[in-house]
Amino acid sequence: MNLTCQKHLFQLSDDGHYLNCAYKAPLLRSSEYAAIEALERGRNPNRITTKDFFDQSELVRQEFGLIINSPAKNIAIISSTSYGFASLLLNVKGKPNGNAITIGDEFPSGYFALKKWCLSEDQEFTVVASNPNLSQQGKDWNERLLAAINDSTSVVLMSSIHWSTGLKYDLEAIGAKCRAVGAKFLIDGAQTIGALPLDVKQCNIDGLVCASYKCLFGAYSMCLMYVHEDFFDGIPLEEAWMNREAAQDFSRLSEYNDNYQEGAFRYNVGQTSNFILTPLVLSSLKQINSWGVSNIQSYCKDLALPFMHEMKSKGFTFEEEPYLCYHLFSIKIGDSRVAQMTALLKERKLHISIRGEYLRISLNVFNDASDLEVLADSLIQMTAQKV
Ligand SMILES: Cc1ncc(COP(=O)(O)O)c(C=O)c1O
Repeated sequence: MNLTCQKHLFQLSDDGHYLNCAYKAPLLRSSEYAAIEALERGRNPNRITTKDFFDQSELVRQEFGLIINSPAKNIAIISSTSYGFASLLLNVKGKPNGNAITIGDEFPSGYFALKKWCLSEDQEFTVVASNPNLSQQGKDWNERLLAAINDSTSVVLMSSIHWSTGLKYDLEAIGAKCRAVGAKFLIDGAQTIGALPLDVKQCNIDGLVCASYKCLFGAYSMCLMYVHEDFFDGIPLEEAWMNREAAQDFSRLSEYNDNYQEGAFRYNVGQTSNFILTPLVLSSLKQINSWGVSNIQSYCKDLALPFMHEMKSKGFTFEEEPYLCYHLFSIKIGDSRVAQMTALLKERKLHISIRGEYLRISLNVFNDASDLEVLADSLIQMTAQKV
């Protein structure tokens, strides 16, 4: 299916160009209405039934599972990326004299979780950084990452693409190496899941945490987590009452059933059934599954390619496939141009994040060619001006 622009399904203002889905996705109309309806239901709590504590969350787990090729029973609903990594790492034992690996400039939620775990498990904390002297870093970085994983590696924790540049890692190869050396492979999917196909089985992923408010068009404070069956007997961070077997029977809760509900359910954050955010997130996940993740990526590619072509002719460089994705990519503008570009973005009403010396461009199905045309124009203007 070839997607056309879906801007009509959002309520973005016409005044400006939003190329910043990696910061926060705009709200889908349908998801907004789902949340408003849910909010209104709270006027009369008798309309919230016992089933409502469980049923909608179950649908969220199913819909998210479809996106990453996982059964619903492997999915937990949590509050944040940091919560997810804390849960996963609580259940990983370090190898004797072992090491744990992450990528350079990893997002802090994963970085700090792994650093803390290394201290408590007496592991060497290894950061594999990019080579800043290369204009295209993907091939070299992926090779060095693979080479760093060895028999002593206990954990590799990293984002599925680089959160600030969009550089793509070969997750299939890294997952295979982790499996071969017996290391756990933990992924932060915030900047890809929903916009770039990812199959947790094909990539041998042991745990994946994904904030819902970016590529999933979900909500701040609701995050989804996949766990491999190996974690099904693990220890959760907290003892939420709903995570126990028979919690559906509200009349017998103090009979204290020690068994957890099946699969990843034990990792659900307390008050999982957030009555306002759950319908919002569910509505967004359904929309993504109806668009199809690979169609979303193709739509972004069709938009990005002419822009990249024009920018290359002006001397800018991009990563090359297979290290490039099209819903999130970056342009190195250099430190000396940051202030000037910030002013230009403001003037042209371009909503884009600058991360370090990179302009991080993130698009999705609500964008059209005009957004990138204005950006191209601004970059050309930037290079014409003196620093
Ligand atoms: C790669 C990545 N992971 C996670 C997050 C959010 O982290 P948390 O859910 O811990 O707030 C962000 C936010 O920008 C991000 O870019």
